[in-house]
Amino acid sequence: MRNLRVDANRLWDSLMDMAKIGALPDGGCCRLALTDEDREGRDLFVAWARDAGCDVSVDRMGNIFARRPGRDDSLPPVVTGSHLDTQPHGGKFDGVYGVLAGLEVIRSLNDHGVETEAPIEVTVWTNEEGSRFAPSMVASGVFGGKFDLDDALAIEASDGKSIGAELARIGYAGDLPCGGRPFGAFFEAHIEQGPILEAEAKTIGVVTGAQAQRWFDVTLIGQDSHAGTTPMPMRKDAMFGLARIVSAIEDMVAEFAPEAVGTIGEVMVSPNSRNTVPGRVDFTIDIRHPEEAPLAEMHREVQALLEKVAEEYELELDARVVSHVPKIDFDPDCIDAVREAATELGLPAREILSGAGHDAMYIGNVAPVSMIFVPCEGGLSHNEAETATLEDLGAGCDVLMHAMLSRAGVADG
Ligand code: GLV
Ligand code: MN
Ligand code: MN
Repeated sequence: MRNLRVDANRLWDSLMDMAKIGALPDGGCCRLALTDEDREGRDLFVAWARDAGCDVSVDRMGNIFARRPGRDDSLPPVVTGSHLDTQPHGGKFDGVYGVLAGLEVIRSLNDHGVETEAPIEVTVWTNEEGSRFAPSMVASGVFGGKFDLDDALAIEASDGKSIGAELARIGYAGDLPCGGRPFGAFFEAHIEQGPILEAEAKTIGVVTGAQAQRWFDVTLIGQDSHAGTTPMPMRKDAMFGLARIVSAIEDMVAEFAPEAVGTIGEVMVSPNSRNTVPGRVDFTIDIRHPEEAPLAEMHREVQALLEKVAEEYELELDARVVSHVPKIDFDPDCIDAVREAATELGLPAREILSGAGHDAMYIGNVAPVSMIFVPCEGGLSHNEAETATLEDLGAGCDVLMHAMLSRAGVADG
């Protein structure tokens, strides 16, 4: 088994084929969760998985499971996977790599006639990005017991459409219960989405865990009024309030440097007219830190800042925490399986903590998990230019296959 390798060219070709769905002019993809493009991507994956001989099932959150039976099919499956939804200006690899690397593992095991003791499954988790429906990782979160199924199905996008309705519309409202069955292990392959592996010339990131994150949805309400006639002291300008908040958050995050990060990525200003004082802004805040205690302190500072600015600018404030993802340490045995696979394959590797959110974080509540990172050029992700090399993607997929085999066991020929 030591000499078994995946077909990196086939993996690359599949990534490029998937990238045609929702393709953007600058080389990226837009397949927001549960849109027609997401459906097309799912359909392509399902067709490929069936061609590879898998049984395909879908659960109530629209999570897809492609199963390759084991010699002892009653054993809990060893599972891998990630997501096919993207950011609005997404790349070709974020999430997609983890799904198609799983498929490539199955295709390679088929090519070489390898039977595993435990079944192997490849999953596509619904709405990992959280860009159309907040919070992120919602369907792996239901699977992992973090969220209630009905609450999750009721989550609405800004266009008023719910996850449940959109799943039904695109034909992915499955009937399998979401969760409640054991996994022998879960491995997720992903591009790093940061600069560390590339800078240190390491091919494999042995991911030991992922940092904590919190998301807020905030509304500030002042008063629409005439831009030319309302004296400055009489205004209730929600935009000026927001401006104060944005710059104070940058300063606050700097107090927790170098680990802390903070982002205000979405802003809607109303009525969005150049000659009306803006009476309302809706915006998001994303704060993250590798440790819980400083993140809790940052959370308190955000809340105090919002209240102070609202008072100063005479604005009504509504601040809601829409995501609270705790830090997670991955399973030591699964981490070892990844490290040992990289060593056996002779690949330069280092331990790394994930700065991004991943479905593995919630699956870690109910199964032993770890992740495999490969470098991406310039550390760039959530960008159309996101890219990685065929060689590194293939190497990460080899590590994935060998880590999965070590957990699933190879049946005697
Ligand atoms: C998902 O990509 C996230 O880290 O927010
Ligand atoms: Mn991702
Ligand atoms: Mn992402």
